Amino acid sequence: MSDSGQFNRPSSRISGYFKRPLLERVKMLVDQGRITESEAHLLTSAGAGFPLSVANTMIENVIGVYGLPIGLGLNFLVNGRDYVVPMVVEESSIVAAVSNSAKIVREAGGFTADSDASVMIGQVQVLGCDDPQKAQEVLLENRGRILAEANALHPNLQKRGGGAVDVEVRVLIEPGSVSNPRSLKYRTMVVLHLLVDTCDAMGANLVNTMAEGVAPLVEELTGGVVHLRILSNLADRRCVRAACRIPVELLARKGFSGGQVAEGIESASRFAEMDPYRAATHNKGVMNGIDAVAIATGNDWRAIEAGAHAYCCRTGRYSPMATWKVENGALVGKLEVPLQVGIVGGPIRLHPTLQVLYKLIGVESAFELGELMGAVGLAQNLAALKALATEGIQEGHMALHARSVAATAGAVGGEIDAVARLLIADGDVKVERARQLLDEHRVS
Ligand code: MEV
Repeated sequence: MSDSGQFNRPSSRISGYFKRPLLERVKMLVDQGRITESEAHLLTSAGAGFPLSVANTMIENVIGVYGLPIGLGLNFLVNGRDYVVPMVVEESSIVAAVSNSAKIVREAGGFTADSDASVMIGQVQVLGCDDPQKAQEVLLENRGRILAEANALHPNLQKRGGGAVDVEVRVLIEPGSVSNPRSLKYRTMVVLHLLVDTCDAMGANLVNTMAEGVAPLVEELTGGVVHLRILSNLADRRCVRAACRIPVELLARKGFSGGQVAEGIESASRFAEMDPYRAATHNKGVMNGIDAVAIATGNDWRAIEAGAHAYCCRTGRYSPMATWKVENGALVGKLEVPLQVGIVGGPIRLHPTLQVLYKLIGVESAFELGELMGAVGLAQNLAALKALATEGIQEGHMALHARSVAATAGAVGGEIDAVARLLIADGDVKVERARQLLDEHRVS
């Protein structure tokens, strides 16, 4: 058994990985048997292995491809399983910060995570029912017929253990229409929810097909007129929960005891619980990690964002996705968020590099991917709060930002690190200063 806690899987704890040159980092992945030589070539080739011909089949009016860095989040131990996590993101500190938090949590035994079944909701909006309450009853009485109609459209999904599994019906009454019977008919809508287990797919296409497919039957049963037929991105039946418990000693950092850091993080968490202005930024930090993995795995990050933030309003008040408490000498973190992610389907699967990233991440189901993403979100939040509750976010940010400032000023090769070091020592991380330093460096 390796340090990774499982057989045949190299550890994600790779000391000093960030210090190695880029090509050496990729070669290490080959040496560890994670990817082949040709996959390594795909990762490092110009255009990141994304041919224009493939891009041209994906959307309209293609004029090129857009590159972003792929970083590896390290040190992740989730449910006893070791992961390196490909993350696609432009913000300099995200990958370093999440790897650092994951290392601390790893020392504390790792993350635990669990998730609901992959159930998505397809909405069918019905207007003009004479008696909305009666329409609701009829739809519920005909649950079996509606499910059969939906499942006939995707028989393979049922064979894989999924399919349309339930029907719910809501009657939405617009305020102010109750006193007027005529207005009640036209300003009241019946909304059928078709609950579909999408297995390893995100499921948007198949849910939409089913929602459209049951519409004629819904009209026949209700006597109303079906209007919208579309999935809901408030995927509240598809939540992921991640947690960790960190003995406070592990949180000590320069000038701060572990207890001080833990208390600081708890207080930052309470701030987000009490204030939507802070909760939005707190949650942005969570989504820094979740989105980066969503993009690296070809998932629809707009859907994930929409669902996650809508879920945060479920009590009527916008609240944090992750919270932290000090309990019996340990900092306990918990995250709950809906994650509508898949590992099959979707146009992005045509992207050749994606196959390599899936090989690296090593997840075998949509559940496993969602649970890992939950752990990444929690780790990312821990990283932000740890910095905010101690020296502040800018020190670490600027150290990493300095390299891209140096490159923007025109530094190349070894000049980038040399100029970045000088910028940090100066405490003045600006392009103008980088240009001056670069000129001086080139003259000397
Ligand atoms: C920056 O991308 C994210 C943070 O603002 C998150 C937070 O404040 O918790 C640092």
